[in-house]
Amino acid sequence: MKNIAVFTSGGDAPGMNAAIRAVVRTGLFNGLKVYGIYRGYDGMISGDIKVMNSQSVSNIIQSGGTILKSARCPEFRTPAGRKKAYEQLLKYNIDGVVAIGGDGTFTGAKIFAEEYDMPIIGVPGTIDNDIYGTDQTIGYDTAVNTALEAIDRIRDTADSHDRVFFIEVMGRDSGYIAVPCGIGGGAEMIIIPETKTNLEGLYDLVRTGKKSKRSFIVIVAEGDEEGSAFEIAKKVENKVKGMKHKVTILGHIQRGGRPLMWDRLLASQMGVGAVEGLLYGERNKMAGVISGRVCFTPLEEAITKSKPINPNLIRMSEILGATK
Ligand code: F6P
Repeated sequence: MKNIAVFTSGGDAPGMNAAIRAVVRTGLFNGLKVYGIYRGYDGMISGDIKVMNSQSVSNIIQSGGTILKSARCPEFRTPAGRKKAYEQLLKYNIDGVVAIGGDGTFTGAKIFAEEYDMPIIGVPGTIDNDIYGTDQTIGYDTAVNTALEAIDRIRDTADSHDRVFFIEVMGRDSGYIAVPCGIGGGAEMIIIPETKTNLEGLYDLVRTGKKSKRSFIVIVAEGDEEGSAFEIAKKVENKVKGMKHKVTILGHIQRGGRPLMWDRLLASQMGVGAVEGLLYGERNKMAGVISGRVCFTPLEEAITKSKPINPNLIRMSEILGATK
């Protein structure tokens, strides 16, 4: 292997830059030529590919977002798009690729790897932490802490005004962000897609709260079967008359910002692991970190196997949020 390329794709996540830096520097350390592909699969198709050196990744470890930019690319879902992408990689004599992203990125990588002879190693970078084969994904720790800080601030207002706050956090279709934020933020209830939402319990909680003039924090993970935080708040409003409430959608605030130490460390470890994996002959796998060690999981498993939330955390949140 002589020439490798790295790209980021899907939703940006804090720590992606640290991962790019680790890939570039590990490649150079091992005598490889390293290319950066801009805007994920879009840039692979259009040939937006540039050589990177050690300075290209200077002073980026502390910054959020991704210097290689990111995009969602419908064209890569077509065989014609993937053919163009492969031809671009051949033009640059690229013989190994590191793909930093989440579920969608790895799905594309897996299909591409089945069609073309191009070793790919995935690095899990998504705030959602919904990828099998790694304890945590890059960006998750920072995102959870960002959300927690926002929840703490909202609590001040909730408490001062005896209000019910429905706070929606990200997570696509998983409660990985909602559960630790809810426990750490002292929420009265956490609503996640993994468990059936107990609406009657929520109505009771708010009724009881109204009587004792207490404030409430209800954390809603996006993707819950009962709908968004707005929709759930509406259902409660229709059942509990006179409820004073507000809805806050934290949204993309959770994706940006300086990566915390853990994400920088994790990203560095995964980036080094991905390049070393390519050099040792690993292909079409994801470089995750389990119990502190880099582990390779086939891309197929990373995207199809589920990583359930620890049920003890869910049980704990019910005990700690109870108002009786
Ligand atoms: O995959 C990360 C994520 O932030 C999800 O939590 C969320 O559902 C989605 O991306 C939002 O994507 P976009 O920025 O494209 O709207």
